[in-house]
Amino acid sequence: MFDPSLSIRKPWVLLCFSLFAMVLSHCSLLPTPSDPRFTALEPGEELAGGATTVFDTGPNAFAFSARNMSAARRTDFLVGNSFFEQNWVIAPASTQGRDGLGPLFNARSCSSCHLHDGRGRPPRNQEGMVSMLLRLSIPGQDPHGGPLPHPTYGDQLNERSVPGVPGEAETRLSYTEVPGTYADGTPYRLRRPQIEIHNWAYQAPSQALAVSPRVAPAMIGLGLLESISEADLLTNVDEADADGDGVSGRANFVWDAAAGAHRLGRFGWKANQPNLRQQTAGAFLGDIGITSELFSAENCGEGQDDCAKAPNGGQPELSESMLDQVTFYSQTLAVPARRDADAANVLAGKKLFYEAKCTACHVPSYTTPVREDFPELSNQKIWPYTDLLLHDMGEALADHRADYRADGREWRTPPLWGIGLLETVSGHMELLHDGRARGVAEAVLWHGGEAAAARERFRAMSATERANLVAFVKSL
Ligand code: HEC
Ligand code: HEC
Repeated sequence: MFDPSLSIRKPWVLLCFSLFAMVLSHCSLLPTPSDPRFTALEPGEELAGGATTVFDTGPNAFAFSARNMSAARRTDFLVGNSFFEQNWVIAPASTQGRDGLGPLFNARSCSSCHLHDGRGRPPRNQEGMVSMLLRLSIPGQDPHGGPLPHPTYGDQLNERSVPGVPGEAETRLSYTEVPGTYADGTPYRLRRPQIEIHNWAYQAPSQALAVSPRVAPAMIGLGLLESISEADLLTNVDEADADGDGVSGRANFVWDAAAGAHRLGRFGWKANQPNLRQQTAGAFLGDIGITSELFSAENCGEGQDDCAKAPNGGQPELSESMLDQVTFYSQTLAVPARRDADAANVLAGKKLFYEAKCTACHVPSYTTPVREDFPELSNQKIWPYTDLLLHDMGEALADHRADYRADGREWRTPPLWGIGLLETVSGHMELLHDGRARGVAEAVLWHGGEAAAARERFRAMSATERANLVAFVKSL
């Protein structure tokens, strides 16, 4: 049920604030009817990625390099792009430098999950997992406070394998329909996923195995997110909810293997990776079975003898320069410009987005600091709509699998930029960490925990208001 007290939890605060706002006509915190942010575009608002922004709206909209990049650096980008798309082959092979696939893997290339640099999705019918994967762990923590891998199956289920080595298991995904109604009586249906793992190749794990399903996120603007200053992100942390708005926001601190220290986590659905280089090396090993200097041991677990005996493609299989080039590629993919950002319904939806306090987590914008090594990412006003922090999203979205400081109910606020182009780029709108939401409205309706009040404000909106809010999100 919609609880009307949620929207006016502290009437006296609102009253004082309104009086204050009347005195200060340019109050920048509380949206007022005359707030210029909701009647016209703010400077640069349509340029989601600052000067990196590109203007393509077709199926390749996510695949461009930063628009402000020099020609020489664009060549490096294209080299990285080719390694991102290249299929790895089984070792030994005559094609030196791209053999070593597996022995256990999920896919043969980065782009098979991040197709067109877009988003993965859950499998349909009986197709098996293609651009989604399952993270695994058992109770406890590794020496750095991270998830404790299963001794045999490791920290990620690898359904595929080279000949002579069994794939680890098979998965089956099904859905239960969950009915609900908006406050105006309009019905809706959500789908709740269930994942079963069967045909384990080795001994079946105990009940205590934690399983976290995750689809591949889009690749746009990641270097910009990596560039946001740590201080800017940490200002939004409010662990004890000192401001009493019901939204806390916690930073994840995760192991940075190259630095040999804990660092702020920014990437992955639980902010479990500190930077794009480690994320990339981790993907090479975990998803494709390609070792690097950073992660040099094949992921063959206890008792996986065929895996351990399979030939490799060199030690390590990935050269440092290739890792650098793919990392550079991930850092310099552009962000597409917003579409119809100044349309009346979009601006009305923007106001509702602020009023519903979606901005408590989906923080609209930042200015990146100067990065000596990345002129194109430096000093850009960007609009990612995320705080990159962890939030308790309630029981319905919980995976019950801790990931460093993230507990089993917490997820990182995902950036919303580019979300309106997903349909065109990736051919679907299956949102949230496991792709359960079929579109923006369903994604919001799954919000719980710290975001329950925002969800209820959405549920209480009229049909026109809901459509405007969705139009705003899809203009991002
Ligand atoms: C089997 C599918 C799959 C393959 C193959 C794959 N990824 Fe991913 N990628 C994912 C998933 C799933 C996540 C989210 C991981 C998480 O939340 O723990 C992800 C996350 C990422 C991220 C972080 C994005 C963000 O918004 O936080 C980057 C960068 C990335 N992958 C790059 C790569 C690169 C580079 C390769 C090739 C070496 C690759 N991926 C291969 C599925 C895949
Ligand atoms: C308390 C923080 C919080 C608030 C408030 C919040 N969100 Fe979210 N939002 C999240 C998190 C965290 C996720 C990812 C959850 C998951 O994947 O399970 C998310 C996911 C989404 C997604 C899906 C994004 C994707 O890439 O799949 C959309 C769309 C979205 N939110 C829109 C909204 C809107 C609109 C509002 C306001 C009505 C809102 N959110 C309020 C934290 C928040």
